[in-house]
Amino acid sequence: MNRKKVVVAVWKEKLTNNQSIQSAKKILELTKNNSFNFDVCLAPNPFSYVSVSEVVSGSPIKLCAQNVLWHPKSGSYIGEVTTEMLKEVGCNYVIVGHSERRIHFNESNEMIAAKAIAAIKSNICPIICVGDTNEDRAAGNFHNVIREQLEGLFEKLPENISENDLMIAYEPVWAISTWRNDNPLPAGDEIQDIHLHLREVISELKSGDFAKKLSILYGGSVAPENGEDYMSKPDIDGALVGGASKTPESFVSTVIACQKGFSRRELVF
Ligand code: PGA
Repeated sequence: MNRKKVVVAVWKEKLTNNQSIQSAKKILELTKNNSFNFDVCLAPNPFSYVSVSEVVSGSPIKLCAQNVLWHPKSGSYIGEVTTEMLKEVGCNYVIVGHSERRIHFNESNEMIAAKAIAAIKSNICPIICVGDTNEDRAAGNFHNVIREQLEGLFEKLPENISENDLMIAYEPVWAISTWRNDNPLPAGDEIQDIHLHLREVISELKSGDFAKKLSILYGGSVAPENGEDYMSKPDIDGALVGGASKTPESFVSTVIACQKGFSRRELVF
């Protein structure tokens, strides 16, 4: 299945504006002789969207926002960034519903669906995160939590959306570098099984065809060491890379590992 694939550097609030500019420039330099058959994106902090967009403008590297307001135009939402602002800087993707926003900013499934809808209406592809916490996992509650997040999303999305309008990212909170404990990271085969489960749920909520064609990314300590294994799996269509994107060298090594994984699966499937 030739689904669209994406690898995103998720810088969160880790890099300042100057660091983001320097990092973006270095990533461009390090990748100038590579060609990727998937999108490589940078997700800087909101304060740096403009400067990073200026650096990547005219290059194959794309801009991804970390969050967006659900209201398409400005209203009374001090401090927020609208889809209109993102369009102006040529933003192609936006992450919505990241677990850190669900946990620290109390974002509900309803809010996340509204953000995704606002993005879709502006032709910005939302990468909508779902995932279970350590506690969910320990309580054996994984299936319910994922289903509830997906139901909350799909019941609000317009009937006529297409699988190309959005992407889902499975991000187990327990595997994200910031929240990790001593438990080992999941192997590619384990994530593959979980992604298949997500597709089954989405196929119930939308249709089998929609679920089959929808890109489902993975995020949680993706790094140069595991990117190839993860991306070689037939149902893992890309990665959100946090910790390993903090230096340009480590992000580019991760992207190259992911590229190897994607090409391995092309040979097999
Ligand atoms: P990580 O972060 O790669 O540091 O685990 C991923 C994310 O939070 O999206």
